[in-house]
Amino acid sequence: MTIRPATPSDYPQLVGVVDEWWGGRDMRPLLPRLFLDHFANTSLIAEADGELVGFLVGFHSAARADEAYIHFVGVHPAHRRGGLARRLYERFFEHAQADGRVRVRCVTSPVNEGSVAFHRRLGFEAELVEDYDGPGADRVAFVKRL
Ligand SMILES: CC(C)(COP(=O)(O)OP(=O)(O)OC[C@H]1O[C@@H](n2cnc3c(N)ncnc32)[C@H](O)[C@@H]1OP(=O)(O)O)[C@@H](O)C(=O)NCCC(=O)NCCS
Repeated sequence: MTIRPATPSDYPQLVGVVDEWWGGRDMRPLLPRLFLDHFANTSLIAEADGELVGFLVGFHSAARADEAYIHFVGVHPAHRRGGLARRLYERFFEHAQADGRVRVRCVTSPVNEGSVAFHRRLGFEAELVEDYDGPGADRVAFVKRL
């Protein structure tokens, strides 16, 4: 298993797996190419025998100089519960800290109970925010101090 920085050329692979890895939800609109074009250097790819088994898409906030943000994390269903997402987060935290970031934020949908449980296990505080993404679009907002 290797973890490396992403490159823009990883984009087709990622959009090719997100719907399946998210249990059939229509996730592609949430992962437009811009994330890989502009945030590849802070995003991570995990591979086993050259095959994609996990990824993290995140960035160091442009507006909040002491924060970083994780937009997406996904692990191949056959590779879950083995600590891979934790490793991806820890690598992201190291890079963020080295760049002076003291907080990491992320946001998930309340229906994604696995994601909520995962973030709590990693020490994130969680808050349900009504209408976060517009009317009726409640979200769970997470924050963790590094
Ligand atoms: C959420 C996800 C990334 C977790 O990946 P993973 O590699 O299985 O997670 P890890 O093995 O690193 O788990 C880290 C901790 O979280 C816990 N955890 C992970 N998934 C969990 C779940 N579904 N329910 C409860 N706890 C969970 C693990 O038990 C582990 O705890 P421990 O270290 O104390 O034993 C993975 O299930 C996934 O890709 N889901 C679909 C995509 C998604 O929803 N992404 C998140 C929103 S962007």
